[in-house]
Amino acid sequence: MKFFVDSADVAAIAELNELGMVDGVTTNPSLILKSGRDITEVTREICELVDGPVSAEVVATEADAMITEGRKLAGIAPNITVKLPLTWDGLKACKVLTGEGKMVNVTLCFSVTQALLAAKAGASFISPFIGRLDDINLDGVELIGDIRQVYDNYGFETEILAASVRSVNHVADVARIGADVMTAPPEVIHKLALHPLTDAGLAKFLSDWEKTGQKIV
Ligand code: G3P
Repeated sequence: MKFFVDSADVAAIAELNELGMVDGVTTNPSLILKSGRDITEVTREICELVDGPVSAEVVATEADAMITEGRKLAGIAPNITVKLPLTWDGLKACKVLTGEGKMVNVTLCFSVTQALLAAKAGASFISPFIGRLDDINLDGVELIGDIRQVYDNYGFETEILAASVRSVNHVADVARIGADVMTAPPEVIHKLALHPLTDAGLAKFLSDWEKTGQKIV
């Protein structure tokens, strides 16, 4: 499973990138707001840092304007993926932009049928928001499994990008169920390495080692 970082925080992305943990980046208008940066500048910096796809989201709601914004965002760098909302206008823009050879991530997906439409419109990625489904007592991980089954039934190549990932369990669950990509905030990715038994085991090894009085170097 590929790891994307869901952030527009360049320092946090760079830190994970140095560890080889970054296959791509996703941003959205809320994350641009949080960064306090200009969208073009911060997106360009991220694209220079990371080799993989970097999603940058349009804010227009009508297809022609989405296409215009998408072309402008795609001009920032060759690894830009234009992010479009799952509306009929977004799907129209997806068809046009993918026809021009641009990568498209269709976002704000909450159902299997929405995911089916995005695949038929040629999306490179579909972003089901699992945390937001959990927020309203639906099952976000189950949606990833359902989309996996439908895409596999018909051989759709659109990659399933599990988004709105909030926890270590979300990451494990979507990996088990076959998401192609997950995107998570840097804090969640950092937590993936943590386990109390690792800490306890290491403390015991170090205290026993101390008692041997030996040194390795
Ligand atoms: O990847 C989409 C993400 O940024 C939304 O996450 O936690 O705001 O639902 P959240």
